[in-house]
Amino acid sequence: MLHLASMMKSRPADFRKALAGRHVVMFFEKPSLRTRLTFEAGVASLGGSISFVDQTQGRLDAREKLSDIAHNLERWVDAIVLRTFAHSTIEGMAEYACVPVVNALSDLEHPCQALADYLTLQERFGNLKKIRLAYVGDGNNVAHSLLLTAACLGSKIRIATPEGYGANERIVADAFEIAEQTGAEIDILSDPHEAVRGVDAIYTDAWASMGQEHEAGERARIFPPYQVNDELAAGAAPHAVFMHCLPAHRGEEITDSIIDSVRSVVFDQAESRLHAQKAILTLLLGGGKSRIPVRSAHA
Ligand code: CP
Ligand code: NVA
Repeated sequence: MLHLASMMKSRPADFRKALAGRHVVMFFEKPSLRTRLTFEAGVASLGGSISFVDQTQGRLDAREKLSDIAHNLERWVDAIVLRTFAHSTIEGMAEYACVPVVNALSDLEHPCQALADYLTLQERFGNLKKIRLAYVGDGNNVAHSLLLTAACLGSKIRIATPEGYGANERIVADAFEIAEQTGAEIDILSDPHEAVRGVDAIYTDAWASMGQEHEAGERARIFPPYQVNDELAAGAAPHAVFMHCLPAHRGEEITDSIIDSVRSVVFDQAESRLHAQKAILTLLLGGGKSRIPVRSAHA
């Protein structure tokens, strides 16, 4: 996927018709700037079309059963892109619909972001197996997808989170299991200084994710030792880059001096979303498969 993303970035003209005649639909239960616009721009640049359904006023399955929605959508569209609170909504859609379903962020994972992040690191440093990435802050959806992606790529990742805000145990177990096959090195820590020591990249994200706004005050008391600032960054390698999925809360998880530094790659990451997602959709839909449902009976 990363290889295709790089090719699509360097030779966009070769892929202008990759999704010709294909239609994608997005349902978002949470706000978005980057994800929505990069899917829209990406599909347009591949000759496809895309619809956006603003689902922020109510959960996707509030009006009718998820399986009924899935069996409608599969008759009309070639792929479904979902941003949801419950990860089970995405899994349910993938189970019921016979067209590909892409996770555009759930409470549990944000895989499109992690692919874009590793594309950014590959462009910057080359061999991803040698990259040492430290994620410091909340053990959230972004941390989970970085862990799983690093594990699949055979890369080296450390995450440091405060007590009580660690990564999901099942995700960590899955990452370690994958790492046994790929040779990835994973360290789960609590000390942010230990995590960043000598690394090539420091990554952080919001202390309170979408849907956790009511916890922001409590988290603001717990997370300050995990702020990515000049003092913490001094422990990384001199060439280390600074990463954030955005939106950033400047002065909270990251200081202006870091996010605006010449070593910040946050806008490279945002650009990479476009190329990574174009590759995802092209791999899922570019093979010319029919969208006629293949099931004889509905689940
Ligand atoms: N990083 C990211 O997913 O941004 P949006 O929430 O703006 O889509
Ligand atoms: N962890 C953040 C990521 C935003 C792109 C959230 O879920 O709000």
